[in-house]
Amino acid sequence: MSVVAKRVLVTGGAGFLGSHLCERLVAHGDDVLCVDNYFTGRKDNVADLLGDPHFEAMRHDITHSLFVEVDEIYNLACPASPIHYQFDPVQTTKTSVIGAINMLGLAKRVKAKIFQASTSEVYGDPSLHPQPESYRGNVNPIGPRACYDEGKRCAETLFFDYFRQHKLKIRVARIFNTYGPRMHPNDGRVVSNFIVQALRGAPLTIYGDGSQTRAFCFVDDLIEGFLRLMAAADQVTGPINLGNPHETAVAELAELVIALTGSRSTITSCPLPIDDPVQRCPDIGQAKALLDWQPTTSLKEGLSRTIAYFDKLLSRRGAMEGGKIKLPSH
Ligand SMILES: NC(=O)c1ccc[n+]([C@@H]2O[C@H](COP(=O)([O-])OP(=O)(O)OC[C@H]3O[C@@H](n4cnc5c(N)ncnc54)[C@H](O)[C@@H]3O)[C@@H](O)[C@H]2O)c1
Repeated sequence: MSVVAKRVLVTGGAGFLGSHLCERLVAHGDDVLCVDNYFTGRKDNVADLLGDPHFEAMRHDITHSLFVEVDEIYNLACPASPIHYQFDPVQTTKTSVIGAINMLGLAKRVKAKIFQASTSEVYGDPSLHPQPESYRGNVNPIGPRACYDEGKRCAETLFFDYFRQHKLKIRVARIFNTYGPRMHPNDGRVVSNFIVQALRGAPLTIYGDGSQTRAFCFVDDLIEGFLRLMAAADQVTGPINLGNPHETAVAELAELVIALTGSRSTITSCPLPIDDPVQRCPDIGQAKALLDWQPTTSLKEGLSRTIAYFDKLLSRRGAMEGGKIKLPSH
């Protein structure tokens, strides 16, 4: 008896995390449909997959209905970095909320299992440390980050209402800071910022005094967590934290990037942005117990692989223009 490939929809599939997920699913033998409006995603991210008969890319905005036949849905579409999600905050909320409604409606119609890429931002500026899934969060509902934080919180609500009301098979992952190859070079996130600055020999900008910590998870580890959660028993709905519990001070990260790139860059300090959390770190007890999952890539190893990616990206002919990085064309 031949095994029929699963048909898997990945929204936001041309983005940073989505492109790695598509790659893993295709390698596993699934039939993957990548849906993306290319707001922050890039065709380059999935270019290597385009020749594969098990991969298909579709330009589509998930705030509009989508009618396709699939067995599983990974809903990743949503700009993830503050610069990008604050660029058009109304569209960010629409993507999170209306996008979730559309994808949940699709999952209900075709009886697909559906995964939501939620975020540690649902915890806001946490008063509890590290954050377990039971922590309800400390989010400012009217601040500049609210379009994302509250959008994602509402999406979680919708997922659990579809689960209770329509018996949908849901999986909700709360993703913490993730880094790796194919991060957007201009996304303003700390890892990509530091690497790009170091490779250009520009000063590394630290917001505040650099004592704030972040817990950085390498992308391959995170995607393994996604796959395990999707494959888990149906009672494992989440929300479940996926991230690296090992904390690193931002200043320490800057030093490590300078050392690994061999850069002569110096470090400068800027004021902290509004609502920037001082500390955020996952409690991954549930992921360990229920999925037998934890990150295995060291920061040094993950950074080296990310630096190699950015080095190649920046050294492409004509990649630098007037001190600004010209992004690869879509
Ligand atoms: N990277 C992280 O550290 C992190 C942390 C927490 C949560 N997440 C979540 O994971 C998901 C993926 O994040 P990422 O880092 O890959 O970000 P990304 O910006 O690289 O990817 C998001 C993708 O969604 C697409 N998109 C945005 N709006 C869309 C719309 N309306 N319709 C169709 N496509 C749309 C973008 O073009 C992009 O390809 C996001 O939902 C994000 O909130 C990421």
